[in-house]
Amino acid sequence: MSHRLYPKKETPLDYPIDPLIEKRWSPVAFSSEPIEPEKINSLFEAMRWAPSSGNGQPWRVIYATQDEQENFDRLASLLDEGNGYAKRTYLLLLTCALPRFEDKDRENPYWQHDTGLGTQNLILQAVAMNLIAHPMAGFNKERAHELLGIPVDVEPMVMIAVGYPGDGEALTDERWVKKQQQPRQRKPVTDFAFRGKWNSKVKSQI
Ligand SMILES: Cc1cc2nc3c(=O)[nH]c(=O)nc-3n(C[C@H](O)[C@H](O)[C@H](O)COP(=O)(O)O)c2cc1C
Repeated sequence: MSHRLYPKKETPLDYPIDPLIEKRWSPVAFSSEPIEPEKINSLFEAMRWAPSSGNGQPWRVIYATQDEQENFDRLASLLDEGNGYAKRTYLLLLTCALPRFEDKDRENPYWQHDTGLGTQNLILQAVAMNLIAHPMAGFNKERAHELLGIPVDVEPMVMIAVGYPGDGEALTDERWVKKQQQPRQRKPVTDFAFRGKWNSKVKSQI
């Protein structure tokens, strides 16, 4: 099967970084082409090997492909209207996080942090396989509990659209076209990496 190349977006680097990190961005133009099952397994395998506090592995994932329409539509129905571009993709995921350690009777202070580490592993693995992956907080968490049977003490975190790159022409909403085309922007390194101690020229939030 011929797949479109990973879409290139200009990344204005100040210093060199690994090409995989440079390549990743959050496109919105997805194809509905199937993803090979072994690639889907590799996404989860990459997540599996993320570091986590006390090796607590607080991440969980609910996923569906367009091959199981009912499951896919249930997940897709949670998306905010503004994230409707994701309904075109082949694979939708919802990451969830466990606030407590499973084997210790206490809260895991790093539950969200570590779920984010697992999520980034999954996203970078997608990019390494020429799949695009777009994380989205814009979905209905309450309905996610109801529709997907997520226990009350487990927190839905982000939905992620994963798929082969698609044709930008199929983007039906002006907002999505803008998202696909907008230039990448970041703060300079000196705004967040401080040598020795806090840089008092950089304001805190109080
Ligand atoms: C936790 C989280 C929530 C996000 N929520 C949304 C979302 O609801 N809709 C969307 O289009 N993008 C969403 N994004 C993507 C960000 O807008 C994007 O990562 C950011 O603008 C940087 O762009 P880049 O990923 O292309 O480098 C989210 C990203 C993260 C990490």
